[in-house]
Amino acid sequence: MGARNESLYGRFLAPVVENILINRDSLRQLDQQIDWETTIPRLTNPQVVYPHYYERSSFHGIEKGYLCKEAALSYDPITQYALPPNETWVRQGLLDAIQGFPERILDLGCGTGTLTMMLKKAFLGAEVVGVDLSPYMLTIAELKSEAEHQTIHWRQARAEATGLQSDSFDLIAIGLLFHEMPPAVTELVLKEAYRLLRVGGELIILDGNQKVLRQTPVLTDIFEEPFIRDYAAGNLDAWLGAAGFGAVQSQDHWLVHQVTRGVKGIRAQNPEESLFADVEAIVEPWVMG
Ligand SMILES: C[S@@+](CC[C@H](N)C(=O)[O-])C[C@H]1O[C@@H](n2cnc3c(N)ncnc32)[C@H](O)[C@@H]1O
Repeated sequence: MGARNESLYGRFLAPVVENILINRDSLRQLDQQIDWETTIPRLTNPQVVYPHYYERSSFHGIEKGYLCKEAALSYDPITQYALPPNETWVRQGLLDAIQGFPERILDLGCGTGTLTMMLKKAFLGAEVVGVDLSPYMLTIAELKSEAEHQTIHWRQARAEATGLQSDSFDLIAIGLLFHEMPPAVTELVLKEAYRLLRVGGELIILDGNQKVLRQTPVLTDIFEEPFIRDYAAGNLDAWLGAAGFGAVQSQDHWLVHQVTRGVKGIRAQNPEESLFADVEAIVEPWVMG
């Protein structure tokens, strides 16, 4: 955890979070409850090749990133303090943005499944799939959903190339994923989401508020997030538009988050594009001739 000591998080927050806020005994108990040697191979998809950025980056100062049990065990206890003013209220913003009644729901980069389970609870009859690259995070997700008697399909896959069927989901949710990947990968994930949604299907994203993060550099420095500055410099609305989504809209959400929604099949009207472009294309050769 070499990098941890360099950052604001490593110097000031990590000791508080790890020694005071996290209950080490309950983490140990959870660890002992899990048969990692069985679950990791079972939840590992042999076809998955980890992207370079994912394998090499240390997220939140944990050297193996999400590919270790320490990251998975500590994710929920830390996240409850990382989403001000309240984790459930922040996550609820994504659910409140849903306009349809989805029957098939996909959560991309589902992590330990907290959001996935909220979606299942809100749409009890829906078939829900959670996709993540970390079998460790999926292990915790599976444990949580089994404890709540929820049927959710947990799958290890890359969000940018899931291998799932085209045009097969009514809703795709993406929570807290894009600030943790290079924008070039975000573009691929958005294209994949577009492919997977049915026409009229909704994509809803909950993540850090790009405007607020740009204006408050301390927020991008505080956590050990290797791609958060690149994320903050970008524009989710523009990224969704470029991937083909229409009716794109972002809303500021609580203190430092935003909720962004787009729909497949409704193309955004580019104000610079002539309404008569198709007619002009026919007329032009005549004029030229
Ligand atoms: C900050 S966590 C968010 C987890 C969850 N969505 C939530 O709201 O708590 C980011 C998750 O994205 C996963 N992830 C990162 N890159 C991914 C990729 N290319 N494909 C699938 N999952 C990815 C990580 O393994 C991690 O579980």
